[in-house]
Amino acid sequence: MTTQDLQKKYRPHLHFAPKKNWMNDPNGMVYFEGEYHLFFQYNPNDSVWGPMHWGHAVSKDMITWEELDIALYPDENGTIFSGSAVVDWENTTGFFQEKPGIVAIFTHHLDGAEGEPPTQSQSLAYSYDRGRTWTKYEGNPVLSHQTKIDFRDPKVFWNKETNKWVMVLATGQTISFYTSTNLIDWEFESEFGDGHGSHDGVWECPDLFKLNVEDSKEEKWVLLVSIGDNPQFDNGSRTQYFIGKFNGSTFTPDHSSIKWLDFGKDNYAGVSFSDVPEEDGRRIYLGWMSNWRYANEVPTGDWRSQMTLPRELSLRKSDGDCKVIQHPVKELAAYFSQIEEIHNVFVSDNEPKKYHVKDSYLEIILNLERVNASQFGITLHHTKEQSTSITFDSTEKVMSLDRQKSGEIDFSTNFPHEQKLKMENINNIQLRIVIDSSSVELFVNDGEYALTSLIYPDKVCEELSIFALDGEIEIKNSQILSPTK
Ligand code: FRU
Repeated sequence: MTTQDLQKKYRPHLHFAPKKNWMNDPNGMVYFEGEYHLFFQYNPNDSVWGPMHWGHAVSKDMITWEELDIALYPDENGTIFSGSAVVDWENTTGFFQEKPGIVAIFTHHLDGAEGEPPTQSQSLAYSYDRGRTWTKYEGNPVLSHQTKIDFRDPKVFWNKETNKWVMVLATGQTISFYTSTNLIDWEFESEFGDGHGSHDGVWECPDLFKLNVEDSKEEKWVLLVSIGDNPQFDNGSRTQYFIGKFNGSTFTPDHSSIKWLDFGKDNYAGVSFSDVPEEDGRRIYLGWMSNWRYANEVPTGDWRSQMTLPRELSLRKSDGDCKVIQHPVKELAAYFSQIEEIHNVFVSDNEPKKYHVKDSYLEIILNLERVNASQFGITLHHTKEQSTSITFDSTEKVMSLDRQKSGEIDFSTNFPHEQKLKMENINNIQLRIVIDSSSVELFVNDGEYALTSLIYPDKVCEELSIFALDGEIEIKNSQILSPTK
């Protein structure tokens, strides 16, 4: 297959991917003057990771993106690692005499001389023209550290409660909090992480924000922490989160358990948009849809990586436990309009119900009621030979996604490994699936669990089959949604 064919076959319709070359983390996500901005870790010279720049794309709805020129290039302080962007509404920096504009806060990464470790420090750049061109601050870097080698990925927000900027920074196996009144002078506040959460890999790309608990007036702080790939474990890179309190200086979690944001392999380094207008009020997140374990090897030719769908986040409490809930943003609905309804259909042992489909992307909403089946689920038949299966096992109380037969898999021995999650209850399942050219995103039980997985089939889908083993299930109020033409 030629590079051009690969470019086309796996190229997503609903997800951002660069036209060419390598991309990793989403950076500098900010809403300003009617546009969502997505900057991203970008190597413009190759389709593998290399000297990092900030690529740039804009969108009105976070689904269709226009890729723009590179925003930030490496300079004498180093290459441009991950970071965030904010609108400086009150001109706290003094950069914006005439009208508010965007400030990017990012990590400068400088390789050390032979045998020496690299240096990482935080720097600023600002834009007067809606992110199209950038000026680096002449006093860069604005924050360095004498001894910490991993000192990166600043996420900054304006804390209304203290009237200060807060920077959340990944510092090895901890997250450090800094504050500032002008984005230039930073004061250390505290460090969080010792004895908390998973330390399976280096801590990276944090984010901190408040979320509403559904159906209540209660709000809690959520701290996202991505953890890097560690060859000792199977999972590769993944993201954990903490729920708790933040008093402007210190974060205190409410729980001692480890909480994972996504049970699939392909959602990493995600953070949220800054400056979404208050009238909108959403906290919108998206992640890099890949895994450091095999990201450099995925079979997409001369472009590599795509982002997850943007997701609206909230909190849900049940049985005293609190979870982050994820739903694809409502803007996605405009991309689907043909609806096939499935009501009150019984599926019995070994007689799957089959539905023909032929679109370039799909959404499926399933409400499955287990009557007495021991296992049930749905298989996405991409072609006669290629399929991806989602199975609920009621004895084990486990949901799993199997991509062993999903198409190209042999670029990494880790890629075919099963992806699964333990559930409290497997009787009534609500499952929302979004399938694009090379990905499947699952949202289970109204957003309570997410599972994001890349796949590389020859075709998106020819047929869906809903199956039950050792017993029956009932399909209720379900839908297959096809693209708006
Ligand atoms: C996370 C990460 C960040 C770093 C960037 C470099 O995927 O390792 O910690 O800033 O990628 O590209």
